[in-house]
Amino acid sequence: MASMYISALTTALLLGGSHAVSAYDTLSTWSPTAVPYTGQCGSIAADLGPGLSTNATIVLPGNSSFEALEIRSSSPRIQPTFTAIVEVATEEDIQQTIRYADRCDIPFLAVAGGHGWQSTINNANGAIQINMRKMQQIELESSGTLVRIGGGVLQRHLTQTLYSLGKQAVTGLCECTSIIGPLLGGGHSVLQGFHGFVSDNLLSARVVLANGTAVTASATEHPDLFWALRGAGHNFGIVASFEVKAYDLPKTNWTIVSIVYTQDKLEEFIDALNEVDNEGDHVPELVLAGAITRIAAFDTVYPVVAYQLSYLGTADEVEPYVARFRQAGPISVTTAENVAYNDYYIATSNGYNQTTCEEDNNISGYAISLRKYNKAAVRQTFGYFSNLTADARYNTSVWLLESYGSRGVWAQNYSATAVAPAERNLPVLTVPITWWAGNSTEAREKAETYGKLMRAALAAGDQETSSTSHVYLNYAIGDESREQVYGAEPLPRLQALKKRYDPANKFGFYMPLV
Ligand SMILES: Cc1cc2nc3c(=O)[nH]c(=O)nc-3n(C[C@H](O)[C@H](O)[C@H](O)COP(=O)(O)OP(=O)(O)OC[C@H]3O[C@@H](n4cnc5c(N)ncnc54)[C@H](O)[C@@H]3O)c2cc1C
Ligand SMILES: *[C@@H]1O[C@H](CO)[C@@H](O)[C@H](O)[C@H]1NC(C)=O
Ligand SMILES: *[C@@H]1O[C@H](CO)[C@@H](O)[C@H](O)[C@H]1NC(C)=O
Ligand SMILES: *[C@@H]1O[C@H](CO)[C@@H](O)[C@H](O)[C@H]1NC(C)=O
Ligand SMILES: *[C@@H]1O[C@H](CO)[C@@H](O)[C@H](O)[C@H]1NC(C)=O
Ligand SMILES: *[C@@H]1O[C@H](CO)[C@@H](O)[C@H](O)[C@H]1NC(C)=O
Ligand SMILES: *[C@@H]1O[C@H](CO)[C@@H](O)[C@H](O)[C@H]1NC(C)=O
Ligand SMILES: *[C@@H]1O[C@H](CO)[C@@H](O)[C@H](O)[C@H]1NC(C)=O
Ligand SMILES: *[C@@H]1O[C@H](CO)[C@@H](O)[C@H](O)[C@H]1NC(C)=O
Ligand SMILES: *[C@@H]1O[C@H](CO)[C@@H](O)[C@H](O)[C@H]1NC(C)=O
Ligand SMILES: *[C@@H]1O[C@H](CO)[C@@H](O)[C@H](O)[C@H]1NC(C)=O
Repeated sequence: MASMYISALTTALLLGGSHAVSAYDTLSTWSPTAVPYTGQCGSIAADLGPGLSTNATIVLPGNSSFEALEIRSSSPRIQPTFTAIVEVATEEDIQQTIRYADRCDIPFLAVAGGHGWQSTINNANGAIQINMRKMQQIELESSGTLVRIGGGVLQRHLTQTLYSLGKQAVTGLCECTSIIGPLLGGGHSVLQGFHGFVSDNLLSARVVLANGTAVTASATEHPDLFWALRGAGHNFGIVASFEVKAYDLPKTNWTIVSIVYTQDKLEEFIDALNEVDNEGDHVPELVLAGAITRIAAFDTVYPVVAYQLSYLGTADEVEPYVARFRQAGPISVTTAENVAYNDYYIATSNGYNQTTCEEDNNISGYAISLRKYNKAAVRQTFGYFSNLTADARYNTSVWLLESYGSRGVWAQNYSATAVAPAERNLPVLTVPITWWAGNSTEAREKAETYGKLMRAALAAGDQETSSTSHVYLNYAIGDESREQVYGAEPLPRLQALKKRYDPANKFGFYMPLV
């Protein structure tokens, strides 16, 4: 059923002003299946070009924009190669491009935020890049409970646009990733303690399948595809647009408490963290996240712990939790009060132009999910991290320690989505991310060697999880098993659906299911 939409296109809030925003098609005007491509496979511009919408562009190697569109996070470590880049502007453009690629036997890869970092993406060679950045629609339904989003919308654009309307939605943390990229693999969020993962908030999606057919996936249409999209979605199609739940902005702002410890307090800090996190079972207002990294102002020899407690509420309300962390002997505690939601991501260093979002960095990281931290394992991992980052080439590396809260994640119907049960059950996400200067093979190999040592040490420290070693799909580096990222339970059903929806494995570059 077509709904009425309030246009929410405040151009002042658009990223860099460079994203096209087109009027939103309603369901009733969405085009049916396009005519299969039967033309030539000579020049893509001449052959595919005329079949695309007026706002679509084809960018070829040698064009000055081509290189900029190739740059992504983790390049050059992750460097798929492209013969052409199609900046699609409509759902039908995606259909036409897939049909063209299919007939001409050319692989293709969708790019939205460009932050995916699995080594499997490197298998896209000589591909057509289907660039989603022109698909920037954001429309809030008149009820205010549903927002329809284009397949290329980035987190900042959505959070800022909704904020201006007094709304929010569940998204990832960094302003530079897309909404859909994290969503298709689950999607951790500061709001997950309230509303579950990003994917738990999906209501429907328009998906272009491997054969170019566009379908709606929802609880009532293609429910099997709808299930698979939420947890293993990168394997099933290109999402042209989708609908997620929208919520009223809460009346309160955030308090963000930043706490720093020198390494001699590592064990005391871990005790405090484990106790306050309580294996994910804490109030949803409390979000725990931070890092171990080098900050010369605090310690010139060793990395320090730089942790943040975010709380949707006042400084007084978060103080009982902070008090536990104070007992562990921090060297510094600073508090930012009354942080509005639209400023939250910059205040937590996840902003669009902040370090975490930088592209063209040589980075890698070996993630692991845990129930809680083991002090001995953390100490051993710290030793590796400290030794690695004593080499100045790696001294901007950041070991992330994330526990966003699990109540909202546990409250979901586990069997309604393909998200691995372990992803919901294990509240701690941790990944030592190594940045390094220069792209020598030796530098990359050293980062990888240490990365594997750190992951192994952390996994071994958790008796319960060492047998399964679950890794969050969206943080996976590419060497994990399918069981580790998708979970042994959903995997057979996912693989069966894969046979039906994408038998030739066209969507096989992001931790492929087969
Ligand atoms: C800086 C940074 C911050 C992160 N923060 C979070 C976080 O807060 N929470 C979290 O859960 N994860 C987070 N992640 C992990 C993140 O979920 C994945 O890296 C995700 O794949 C990024 O999506 P993208 O669109 O930016 O990347 P891309 O590389 O553009 O896309 C990732 C994959 O999705 C596919 N894809 C892109 N667009 C579409 C589409 N419209 N339809 C279907 N497939 C598509 C691509 O082909 C690719 O396989 C973060 C990663 C980084 C590097
Ligand atoms: C990011 O930085 C660029 C270049 O300085 C600027 O044009 C852009 O507006 C900034 N974007 C945001 C969201 O801050
Ligand atoms: C193309 O983009 C422009 C500018 O964003 C927009 O006004 C126009 O409606 C778009 N055209 C189509 C056919 O979508
Ligand atoms: C680069 O590609 C764009 C998009 O197709 C096109 O508009 C532009 O003319 C091209 N530039 C050159 C120098 O070919
Ligand atoms: C939240 O912060 C914003 C921006 O500083 C401010 O305008 C607003 O009044 C604050 N809200 C509350 C409840 O304090
Ligand atoms: C770090 O380096 C020191 C000095 O070389 C060494 O003694 C120590 O074992 C190393 N730590 C780890 C965890 O490898
Ligand atoms: C990293 O090393 C460089 C070069 O030695 C130095 O200038 C910089 O201060 C170091 N940074 C940190 C955080 O230690
Ligand atoms: C959970 O989801 C499954 C699959 O969609 C459904 O069959 C079941 O009824 C749901 N359970 C509850 C309690 O809603
Ligand atoms: C990563 O490698 C590239 C070479 O491809 C190099 O130019 C760049 O400086 C490196 N990035 C960093 C942050 O060192
Ligand atoms: C760095 O990366 C570039 C681009 O991938 C490559 O051409 C160059 O040979 C690399 N340099 C080294 C030292 O590996
Ligand atoms: C495309 O694939 C879907 C899923 O397998 C199937 O339902 C549909 O009939 C196919 N469309 C065409 C035109 O073959």
